[in-house]
Amino acid sequence: MESKKRVGVLTGGGDCPGLNAVIRAVVRRSIMHGGYDIVGIKHGWRGLLEKETVQLTRPAVSGLLPRGGTILGTSRTNIYKNKESQEKAYANFRELNLDALIAIGGEDTLGTAQKMSQDGFNIVGVPKTIDNDLMGTDVTFGFDTAVQIATEAIDRLHSTAESHDRVLVCEVMGRHAGWIATYAGLAGGADAILIPEKPIDLDEVCAMVERRHDQGIFFSIIVVAEGAKIKEGQREKEVLSSQRLDDFGHVQLGGVGDVLAKEIEKRTGYETRVTVLGHVQRGGTPTAHDRVLATRYGVAAMDAVHAGRSGVLVALKGQEIVEVPLTEVASGIRTVNEDLYQMTKTFWG
Ligand code: F6P
Repeated sequence: MESKKRVGVLTGGGDCPGLNAVIRAVVRRSIMHGGYDIVGIKHGWRGLLEKETVQLTRPAVSGLLPRGGTILGTSRTNIYKNKESQEKAYANFRELNLDALIAIGGEDTLGTAQKMSQDGFNIVGVPKTIDNDLMGTDVTFGFDTAVQIATEAIDRLHSTAESHDRVLVCEVMGRHAGWIATYAGLAGGADAILIPEKPIDLDEVCAMVERRHDQGIFFSIIVVAEGAKIKEGQREKEVLSSQRLDDFGHVQLGGVGDVLAKEIEKRTGYETRVTVLGHVQRGGTPTAHDRVLATRYGVAAMDAVHAGRSGVLVALKGQEIVEVPLTEVASGIRTVNEDLYQMTKTFWG
């Protein structure tokens, strides 16, 4: 009897609604194709270093579709941190007898996947991040859920802001790109949308708040992405919640909403408060849209493995799921396009 092919699956980086839906789809598609053992690698690339695995059978993925988080766990471990961990990861890949690996993650996880595939390992990538800032695909799963959560929060902030005649600043996630801020801000009717792509002009924001007051509207809602920088003369100030770097050299962002709120209150004299949505945007059940997108990605990733393809990313282009080279992820950050951003200004103030 021919032995089964062993396919690893891992989830890396920040968690994201829809990860479990991808895992389920990979397993279900592998059963349809037949002849596969699906091996879950725990805690992202850390599980490859520690050979921490779990068998992903049909019962193991039952009931996963609506579940947030990832049953495999995740980490921000970088196997290329030093030569020793790289060699260990490569040796473990071989010792685990993996024929292929499906890596579900953002720029860091997929960057690692791409390097490994260049070194001869069979790897297929699946694009994940609530930030929606990955090159190669039109949309990442998890984004729709984050936008839904942030929109609901903005709706709720509206009624309390209006009752108290306050300015409310809502800080959302978005490290390099302001997709969540832009979509949730538009959907929630924010009075200003501040994103990493455009340094914040405090004069413009305060003038907007004052214009509303002049018109007899005594509250304002300002949505700001955590990665937005404040213009200070010729400089731009990034606000960090910690100087600590992760394995990939990223700082921990957070706090721009607070800085903004204090500055608006100081300059305008209007009471201003901040709400930071933080990890609430990443937790809990995925929307129907994200469940479907994640399922389509999982099926496509398993189909790519079954067809013997490697070094590819499954992606959404228009309405179609396609495969693009994994190298596309490293070509930059997918930022909010200028036209869309300028259009949001119709609704400022
Ligand atoms: O990449 C997604 C993301 O949610 C970013 O928006 C955010 O800056 C980062 O992850 C936070 O990651 P962690 O939970 O590891 O601090």
